[in-house]
Amino acid sequence: MDHSNYQIETLISAKTIAARVEDLASEISAHFADTDKLIVVGLLRGSFVFIADLVRELDLPVEVDFIEASSYGNSTESSREVRILKDLRGEIEGRDVLVVEDIVDTGFTLSHVLAILKTRNPKRLAVCALLDKPSRREVDVRATWTGFEIPDEFVVGYGIDYAQRNRNLSYIGAVRFTA
Ligand code: IMP
Ligand code: MG
Repeated sequence: MDHSNYQIETLISAKTIAARVEDLASEISAHFADTDKLIVVGLLRGSFVFIADLVRELDLPVEVDFIEASSYGNSTESSREVRILKDLRGEIEGRDVLVVEDIVDTGFTLSHVLAILKTRNPKRLAVCALLDKPSRREVDVRATWTGFEIPDEFVVGYGIDYAQRNRNLSYIGAVRFTA
């Protein structure tokens, strides 16, 4: 695919994201204040920037792990088939777990990952999603904490890609197709 036929319009600035990450982190720190250790599970790859910023604001003992589920190919169409491409390295039985996701869109990815993690009997299982597109939801699933609700726009930046590009933008932008 040709990548030159779109422009990116700023939707959420780096400053706004940073302020929201601080707020989310203090809510999460308060919620898990009594934990002996919080296992923060990033969903690869889109959450890698968010999780890096979020864990540095958490006032808790944390461990970081990652899981990768397949969702999109190189297109903007959501796939309903969710497969685990890379599993956690550690055990979560009896532990406090926070799943960190970039975007909850149709909800298929998050609900599938949560179903798998629940079978492993964590003590507490919560979710922090940076973005939520409620108008796109097909599966009834909600994050415990959401950074921003956004309209049905295809977004990039702050870890989030379009065909693997634009993850390195410091802000979140909406993709505008020009041709
Ligand atoms: P869901 O299974 O439809 O909820 O899809 C969730 C996944 O789709 C997210 O983790 C993202 O990786 C990807 N996704 C959804 N919306 C967008 C978008 O606007 N830009 C880039 N990726 C997206
Ligand atoms: Mg993703």
